[in-house]
Amino acid sequence: MLVLGIESSCDETGVALYDTGAGLLAHAVHSQVDMHEAYGGVVPELASRDHIRRLVPLLETVLAEASRTRQDIDAIAYTAGPGLAGALLVGAGFAEALALALEVPVLPVHHLEGHLLSPLLAPDAPDFPFVALLVSGGHTQLMRVQKVGSYELLGESLDDAAGEAFDKTAKLLGLGYPGGPALAALAAQGTPGRFRLPRPMLNSGDFDFSFSGLKTAVLTVARDHALSDQDRADLAAEFQEAVTGVLAAKALSALEHCGLGTLVVAGGVGANRRLRQRLDQGVARMGGRVCYPALELCTDNGAMIAFCGARRFLAGIPGREAGAFGVRPRWPLQDLS
Ligand code: KG4
Ligand code: ZN
Repeated sequence: MLVLGIESSCDETGVALYDTGAGLLAHAVHSQVDMHEAYGGVVPELASRDHIRRLVPLLETVLAEASRTRQDIDAIAYTAGPGLAGALLVGAGFAEALALALEVPVLPVHHLEGHLLSPLLAPDAPDFPFVALLVSGGHTQLMRVQKVGSYELLGESLDDAAGEAFDKTAKLLGLGYPGGPALAALAAQGTPGRFRLPRPMLNSGDFDFSFSGLKTAVLTVARDHALSDQDRADLAAEFQEAVTGVLAAKALSALEHCGLGTLVVAGGVGANRRLRQRLDQGVARMGGRVCYPALELCTDNGAMIAFCGARRFLAGIPGREAGAFGVRPRWPLQDLS
């Protein structure tokens, strides 16, 4: 079965072709980062308009790359939420119209489920059950994943998501958008420990997180010191140490709590090298294994959406006829179970 995947929930337009027999045939992403950079963040209306411009050319690109035609498509998976309402509607409208024309079913996908299952696209995919650490710009969650479609929330951020904390702190330090990769690059030049930042909720005894206080702590340091370039790098390094320290500690105790040995990491912050290093070391010490999606599939993309739609279909969760649709800008993942 050949599944076309469409992602348009935020500032990346992603299109991909996944074949249930042959695997991922092609995927292409257009990032709007350059366009939003001037505004210091995503402008929803601009995002929607750009998705409209990109979808058809991206579809042509993946079809050519996979040497397939539109008529070869058996089903269309698309991100139905959560995300920006207008941006979601562009992808949904495109997918539903194309599916109607091709007379194939649609497979509406939850964006976070797409992230969550994306490590299963790797050649040495993990087996169920596993614990998933979902760390994106909008969400920080620890989940127990029993099988496709069955997700138990263990804990989540009570305020800012990890990616959001990176982005906001980067802004405070005068770095561009998106801040996560920029802050990580600056942190690599610095030494943690010179400035001391808190490790919020490290010993709270649950699997919840809180990152908004860290941003304020960075702001306080920045206000009290005339920061040199080295100071900024040291502060960035300490910030990264604090966030990754709490994420890694809670992920490890979630594994222990569930009696499981496999940790799956998904979402944009999963690209962070320091986080990977800490998780790899900690889980190896427990005799377990950590699975990541390929680096290019950590951030938003169509491949994870095509794959997720296909896996749901194979798990007996059917799609539906194209034509009637809505999107869910707010959509708790637990609603799927
Ligand atoms: O999953 P994603 O692409 O989009 C959402 O669904 O939110 O995640 C984007 C987030 C942004 O906050 C970005 O700053 C962060 O992931 N990010 C990083 C790194 N690369 C991306 N944060 C820390 N270190 C990185 N290397
Ligand atoms: Zn995402």
